[in-house]
Amino acid sequence: MSDYKTQRGDTSWFTHDRLGLFIHWGLYSLPARHEWVRNNENIPTETYDANYFGRFDPDHFDPDAWADAAFRAGMKYVVVTAKHHEGFCLWDTQHSDYKATNTPARRDLLKPLLEAFRKRGLRTGIYYSLIDWHHPDFLLDAHIGPYRAHPEREQMNIGRVPSRYAHYMRDQLTELLTQYGDIDVLWCDFSYPKPDGSGKGHADWESDELLKTVRSLRPTIIMNDRLNLDYGWDMKTPEQYQPRAWLEHAGKRVVWEACQTLSGSWGYHRDENTFKSVEMLLQMLIDTVSKGGNLLLNVGPTSRGEFDQRALRSLAGIGSWMQSHSRSIYGCTAAPTDVPTPTDCRLTYNPETHRLYVHCFAWPFKYLWLDGLRERVKYAQFLHDGSEIVLEAKDWTAVQARETAGEANSLLLELPTLKPDVTVPVLELFLD
Ligand code: GLC
Repeated sequence: MSDYKTQRGDTSWFTHDRLGLFIHWGLYSLPARHEWVRNNENIPTETYDANYFGRFDPDHFDPDAWADAAFRAGMKYVVVTAKHHEGFCLWDTQHSDYKATNTPARRDLLKPLLEAFRKRGLRTGIYYSLIDWHHPDFLLDAHIGPYRAHPEREQMNIGRVPSRYAHYMRDQLTELLTQYGDIDVLWCDFSYPKPDGSGKGHADWESDELLKTVRSLRPTIIMNDRLNLDYGWDMKTPEQYQPRAWLEHAGKRVVWEACQTLSGSWGYHRDENTFKSVEMLLQMLIDTVSKGGNLLLNVGPTSRGEFDQRALRSLAGIGSWMQSHSRSIYGCTAAPTDVPTPTDCRLTYNPETHRLYVHCFAWPFKYLWLDGLRERVKYAQFLHDGSEIVLEAKDWTAVQARETAGEANSLLLELPTLKPDVTVPVLELFLD
């Protein structure tokens, strides 16, 4: 019997697949102004429930359509918020009444979703919020939650039993990990310990017990790193920023996954218009893989159960690039450390095929220098159309360029003057 503290999740498929879909869906899709709306506007339970729990009716919900959109975008896995901080459960849990089956939706929304994704060949993951602004045993603290600044917060805590809440989480996770098919990823969110003990961390969640429960049910599930434990996690989860380099822990490179929003919010936000361009999203994906990581890109569906047009456009744009370029993403990782990255580029590398992928974020002025690669590249082509790129540019301008540039071992590629008509052009180099 392996020890739950040292047991590792199976990340072999994960570091191959690279791109996943995050879905944040809950009652907050009705107010449509951030999934933290209950906190941000200090909305009392009665108001929140009357307005949103009582009116959650996703009449256009079509799990196949969601799975299709993700599949076409080249995504290989999905992570769904079974429960977010508001405490609302998308599934028919036996441990709470605060669930989809008791809203006008009248059904378990999680099960058909997971099934639709699996049918499309995607792996499935569950996001489970450790924070719970609804549960009667969740201790109201001074940091977050709708009652954080409430004058009677202390009194409102009387009778709350935190260990009961920790138990509730284990019960719910047990339900999710035993009745919802093969779950590959568990994304618990999040801890906020404070030096004076006023925040929340492993002691509040009983993280060690939680981990033990999870590992006993699914020993090789991929666990994220937000339980406030220094063991038991399989991946780091940088949020809304791109790390400078491959993330390390104790001097060693680790598995990591950046999570990013299409706009500035995770939950559906009607008036949030900072949608990133398709080019930027692709650059984020490429940048991530060039540093050995995964990208989990988020969509916040509407309260009627749809991906809005802005999200669909983003996914379609990603998909159209992936159609001809996924070879530089799937199965790829950072380039060997002795290969320097050319100006304005990102490199990815497939260790099995020994192919190096040069992604041009800005189009070069006809020539591209690849230092140290003169002897190592056997053939080069554009990825989008498989057209050859002649190695060792030899026309008279190239000769001059070489004379003025020095470095004997660098390879000089001659590219078309104009950028090919693809969002991010990729050169595929066959190494020895
Ligand atoms: C945060 C936020 C949250 C979001 C998550 C995604 O911790 O609280 O709303 O679900 O990050 O990474």
